[in-house]
Amino acid sequence: MSAEDKTSRLGAVYQAGSSEDVARVYDAWAENYDQDMSLAGYRHPAISLALLCRHVPKGAGPLLDAGAGTGLIGEWLAIAGFNHVEALDISAGMLAVAGRKGIYQALHQAALGTRLPFADNQVAAIISAGVFTSGHVGVEGLDDLLRICAPGGTIILTVKDVLWQSGFSARIKELEAAGVCALIDDTGPYVSMPGEEGTTPSRCIALRVH
Ligand SMILES: C[S@@+](CC[C@H](N)C(=O)[O-])C[C@H]1O[C@@H](n2cnc3c(N)ncnc32)[C@H](O)[C@@H]1O
Repeated sequence: MSAEDKTSRLGAVYQAGSSEDVARVYDAWAENYDQDMSLAGYRHPAISLALLCRHVPKGAGPLLDAGAGTGLIGEWLAIAGFNHVEALDISAGMLAVAGRKGIYQALHQAALGTRLPFADNQVAAIISAGVFTSGHVGVEGLDDLLRICAPGGTIILTVKDVLWQSGFSARIKELEAAGVCALIDDTGPYVSMPGEEGTTPSRCIALRVH
């Protein structure tokens, strides 16, 4: 794939108008995604995994990789000692690539921001990298993650700074005041794709669910 194609894919995702558009762009990108993100120096999986290992005991489970894509994180979660991990994504094409890697116990095609196919308190921890970002999922995706994560569990999220400043941070303060969860870690801003000109900063946070 040419550099122009890759840039137009990223641009198309950031500007997608609906969840269906997002899924279509990722379906078409799935087979080239790992290589493109590697060339862009994509850092969210490594940074979110570091935060998960700091806050979630080895072997805890089940874990949910929310917006798992092709499973870049899943490969490393197994190495880090988490052997029951389920993947959820809106794109069937991305999940198909993840499925071929044989690293997830289950694959769920579903959309964050809607009611997810899990019971209350079902998972011990959630990791979501590169999903709470422009044109993907906003703060509305957080509530159902809080519902399905067990009390005492941990949610690790990367959040694009523009979302953080425009309501995400305020929503977390509200949830803390209501006793729903606590912000227990925050990397502060970093650039997730240093190889991609114009990438704006994101941060990675950890929430402890009460
Ligand atoms: C930048 S990729 C990140 C994938 C993977 N977490 C990683 O770090 O490589 C964003 C992923 O979010 C998924 N996605 C976007 N909107 C979604 C939604 N509403 N619900 C579930 N997944 C979504 C896309 O299909 C895509 O796989």
